[in-house]
Amino acid sequence: MWRELKPHYNRVIKLPEAVLKRLIKKVKMTRNENSKRKRLNTAAKQENISLPSYHSFPDAAEVVLLRSHLLNWYDKEQRTLPWRTLARTEEDLNIRTYGVWVSEIMLQQTQVVTVIDYYNKWIKRWPTVQDLAAATQEEVNQMWAGLGYYSRGKRLYEGAQKVVCKLNGQMPQTVESLIKQLPGVGRYTAAAIGSIALGQVTGAVDGNVIRVLCRLRAIGADSTSPAVTEALWNIVNLLVDPSRPGDFNQAMMELGARVCTPKAPLCNQCPIQSHCRSYQKVNYTQEQNTTKLVGKTRKRSPSVPDIEECVDSGACLLCPSEPWENELGVMNFPRKPAKKPPRVERTLTCLVIRRGGDGQDEYLLTRRPNKGLLAGLWQFPSLLEVESSDVEQKRALLCSEIGRILGTVFPENHIQFVGEVVHIFSHIHQTYVVHSVRLNDLSYEDLRENAQWLSRSALLEAAVSTGVKKILKVYDSVESDKRQTTNEPKKKKMADLKNNVKSKGKHCAAKSDSKQLSLTSFFKNTKKENL
Ligand code: ADE
Repeated sequence: MWRELKPHYNRVIKLPEAVLKRLIKKVKMTRNENSKRKRLNTAAKQENISLPSYHSFPDAAEVVLLRSHLLNWYDKEQRTLPWRTLARTEEDLNIRTYGVWVSEIMLQQTQVVTVIDYYNKWIKRWPTVQDLAAATQEEVNQMWAGLGYYSRGKRLYEGAQKVVCKLNGQMPQTVESLIKQLPGVGRYTAAAIGSIALGQVTGAVDGNVIRVLCRLRAIGADSTSPAVTEALWNIVNLLVDPSRPGDFNQAMMELGARVCTPKAPLCNQCPIQSHCRSYQKVNYTQEQNTTKLVGKTRKRSPSVPDIEECVDSGACLLCPSEPWENELGVMNFPRKPAKKPPRVERTLTCLVIRRGGDGQDEYLLTRRPNKGLLAGLWQFPSLLEVESSDVEQKRALLCSEIGRILGTVFPENHIQFVGEVVHIFSHIHQTYVVHSVRLNDLSYEDLRENAQWLSRSALLEAAVSTGVKKILKVYDSVESDKRQTTNEPKKKKMADLKNNVKSKGKHCAAKSDSKQLSLTSFFKNTKKENL
């Protein structure tokens, strides 16, 4: 059966009923999808709008003013940093995106001052994503050594290989594709790369920006909660300057790092002080206290709202649950839940040293597994201390580990206790219980896989963690103490001889006493030690 279809331009088309039904269904579906999309968009917009005005920026004129205050300050005060120079001067979009990606990954858990040197060396060695992809994991680990959080270097390397092998050598060019394509790139990192390298108009919320925004809008609820996180992204997306998104985001970071610091913030130097609800609160509280003392009541300025003026106060997900503490001032914000205490670990470790062919000392190192803490880095033979085992058992276990690496039976009585080295990771309080042994034999060539002998200079250049370097330092200092103690009687004789000529005995005695004291105090550790 045929039915007539009368479209809006008044032409009559005849269609079979079945075709018509299908057409009507399709039109209805499209309508549903469109209205769903519309509803979602409205909801998203409402999310922006629904922030209580006390915690947001309802006045567009204030937003414009804040941007200009912040960017004027940034133009004068910003530090010259290599990735900023690259983002400003490099014309090749691919190289620019790669350079900013490297900087953002390095900056993820490391301070700017530490990153600068690493960044410069990295870019000099691997100026393009293709150069990085052609490196080896070992070279990358070596370059990253000392920077911490080693999985970051690994992810950069894996990302570079993906870009070269799967994306035709082209770095992703949108925030969404940066997140999707690059390992280790999340919402913040993608927004930072997108805005700084690609000029995408998006805010970026990192730790510094959380602090600035929480103070700016008196957000005192747990800053790690989803409600606060979403609110902060909404606020920064509203604030970001569409004509200079990268500079705006970096200005916020810079402000957090140098002015709006966690402790002792420099409010008097803050370019956006006049927009800061926390600062207003500090002033208002001080004013109130003064008027109380003087016994007069002064009317507050209507342009300065008080924290209690949050319209949703009580039910507001952004208001603090704890009362404001006057002594803290703007440092009342942000608030975080208490940190979990770090896991306490003790690791038995041993410097196994032999004299190399060229007469130089060589150290035995083993490679850590490719996953987990310090993945792929080199370390001295080590073993997690088992609490239940006694001194002898621990020594035996460490020696059997050394024997396993050397491919031989290793006698227990060889190793000597050196001292303890504490190294704090973000989530582990690590104590290395350090031993040493000097092998007379030049053999021990038949090492198991993932083990090698390295000279001192090669060790210092290798992909080793800061912990290994600390261990080496303590070993050196104990050895030097030992040498001095061994030489002491000889020195004393010389000093006595000299004292007969010139009376400087007091000074010498004091010096040797203090040396002795430091050694004695060091060996106090031996008593505490469980081995
Ligand atoms: N921290 C993270 N990204 C940064 C940047 N681009 N400049 C300064 N500090 C940062």
